Amino acid sequence: MAISQSTFEARSSFGFEEQLATSSHLEDYLGRSPSGAPTGTTMLCGAQEASIAPDSTLWPLGEHTPGKHLVLRNYLNAWLPILGMTQSAEVKFVFVELEPDRAQYLERLVEAEKADLPGNCDALVVQGRFDATMTTLLDDIESKMKALAPCFLMVDPFGISGTPMTIIQRVLRHPKSEVYISFMYEAINRFNTTSEFAPHLDALFGCTDWRRGVEIVDAQQEKDFFYTLYRNQLKQAGARYVLHFELYQGGRLVYAIFFGTKHLLGCDRMKQAIWKVAPFGDYVFRGTRTAQLGLDLDAVDPAALANELAAAFKSAEWIRVEEANEFAQSDLTDYHSGHLKKALVHLETSKRIEIKAGSRKKVRTFPDGTRFRFK
Ligand SMILES: C[S@@+](CC[C@H](N)C(=O)[O-])C[C@H]1O[C@@H](n2cnc3c(N)ncnc32)[C@H](O)[C@@H]1O
Repeated sequence: MAISQSTFEARSSFGFEEQLATSSHLEDYLGRSPSGAPTGTTMLCGAQEASIAPDSTLWPLGEHTPGKHLVLRNYLNAWLPILGMTQSAEVKFVFVELEPDRAQYLERLVEAEKADLPGNCDALVVQGRFDATMTTLLDDIESKMKALAPCFLMVDPFGISGTPMTIIQRVLRHPKSEVYISFMYEAINRFNTTSEFAPHLDALFGCTDWRRGVEIVDAQQEKDFFYTLYRNQLKQAGARYVLHFELYQGGRLVYAIFFGTKHLLGCDRMKQAIWKVAPFGDYVFRGTRTAQLGLDLDAVDPAALANELAAAFKSAEWIRVEEANEFAQSDLTDYHSGHLKKALVHLETSKRIEIKAGSRKKVRTFPDGTRFRFK
């Protein structure tokens, strides 16, 4: 599914006047379908910081921006078929945009794409504020004791205001929701000593603990502090697995994308989506636990994941291959389940593991049921 209509390119604006949807239409739009069939929702929202946002309707595509779009595209290509396994599932794309000129431009792009959408897909542009729109939607749903349809929420601000943790928390309270958030590190770093931004940072993090990060002198440690705090806040908000990757322009870190999900499979699929994009060409790509992921799947050193497995399963207990797979899928490693087999073969050929007799038929294979332990 192409979702590149959310990309603004440097073209001139169209001044047409269609009536755009408002947040009060949203609950009807996103509620369960009349048949009761599950509806998947992909919400793509933006929010901006006045001082660093462009004034024009459109702006040049940043060098680092395709990284965000490519990972998103890869992920949705995996996510939508999972959703589609329920044959009657509908998928609704909702774009929330504050600025009327941009919303109108986007509306026009979306309308043009709609003709090519499959019958079970629809798209809507809502002109409004991200936080107000989400609050209206969630209030409506919760007042009717309904659950939010399975939802992938992309939050893509220019800066640090308007994307409060309270909203993320309300979304993640629903059982099948995931978030993909641009964490504007450059802006956070620039504004965290300016007192007028303190309330925005309180809202972004959902706590006041970020203030301790401002005192840290070492740049790497300061960044680790802010990332860890945001990750922990997402986990506390209900994300069971949290990943992030960074987007650089030249040598400059612009922002990190944080992905939060409640589902192991979603975590694994997101890592696969990220790996498909690496190497990133002009922009560097760094993972959650590994300094730099810059190799394609075939070039991955199996020893790296093998060492992580050894560290994770140190005890002399027998390990089921399913447990190793769960580790590979989770946010405890940047590698994913597609890397696991080579890592296990590496451990076997280098005689670092022993296989439980009778738990599998053929050497150097690891079907479900295989058990092994570290020597
Ligand atoms: C970084 S851009 C989004 C880019 C787009 N998601 C993409 O991937 O190509 C941020 C957008 O959010 C819009 N915006 C700013 N504040 C907002 C708010 N409070 N609510 C909704 N949209 C907002 C801006 O006008 C701008 O169009």
